[in-house]
Amino acid sequence: MILVLDGQGSTKVWNDAGAEVIFEWQAGSLFAIPLNAHHQHFNGSGQKAARFVSSTNMPPVINLYDDVDFVFNTPKDFPNRFNGEPDYFSLKGEQKGLLLDTNFVADAANLPLIEAKERGAGGGHIRFAMAKGSMNSHISQFPIATYKKGHRHGPGAHVIMLTGTGYSLMWPEGEEPRRYEWGPGTLIVPPNMWFHQHFNTGLEPARYLAFKHEVVSVRNAQGVPKAWISQRIGGDQIDYADESLYVRDTFREALAKHGIEPQMDDAYATELQTLQPKP
Ligand SMILES: [Fe+2]
Repeated sequence: MILVLDGQGSTKVWNDAGAEVIFEWQAGSLFAIPLNAHHQHFNGSGQKAARFVSSTNMPPVINLYDDVDFVFNTPKDFPNRFNGEPDYFSLKGEQKGLLLDTNFVADAANLPLIEAKERGAGGGHIRFAMAKGSMNSHISQFPIATYKKGHRHGPGAHVIMLTGTGYSLMWPEGEEPRRYEWGPGTLIVPPNMWFHQHFNTGLEPARYLAFKHEVVSVRNAQGVPKAWISQRIGGDQIDYADESLYVRDTFREALAKHGIEPQMDDAYATELQTLQPKP
């Protein structure tokens, strides 16, 4: 998965059979290189640097085969994933529920999102499965003066802040939350099974992009990620009703510096409608 941070240019992608396609990108563009495809990036400017951030599933792949030569030098096309289709990296994209079926997003910071309730506060959300790969990615947004529920999961999630300002609390079980400030361009990588929780303290919606490999997703018997399930029923998400006073006090203090109040009453009330009893 690649997110372009700055500049503009193009990328050529081709397979061993010689099928190739070239597409253009600019700051904010999001795309994925298909499995085992050759690719080359070109800076379209003679003066300005281009910059991107990317995430791969290389660590689990290297661990699985333990053979760098095999991983990098085995000729093999996957034509069902990529076969030089001329519109492969075009803006087409069918929306299926929360999933946008596309291989290219022109401007991640301004992509329209879909309303999602699972993590509180009525934030927007959209998921991608680009280039038929196994790398998950999604964009999530939350409104002014709100925050997400805390949760935890396996390693490898890369959270890139696209818009807004705020902070995240992160902590391993049994320890005090640690606070990390962020703004556009900040990259946050929650360590393995650390709780993490994101707070919008700025004057605009906060939006982030997350890259994650499926191998890290711990799921229950019904296939639901435990990170989305309440701790009260055995999951790894902390209900608002169960968060520590520190969480709410810290948030109120941070907002007060901007002269605003938390806008969380609706989220707290909505949660109470479906909150499970304490075990
Ligand atoms: Fe997370």
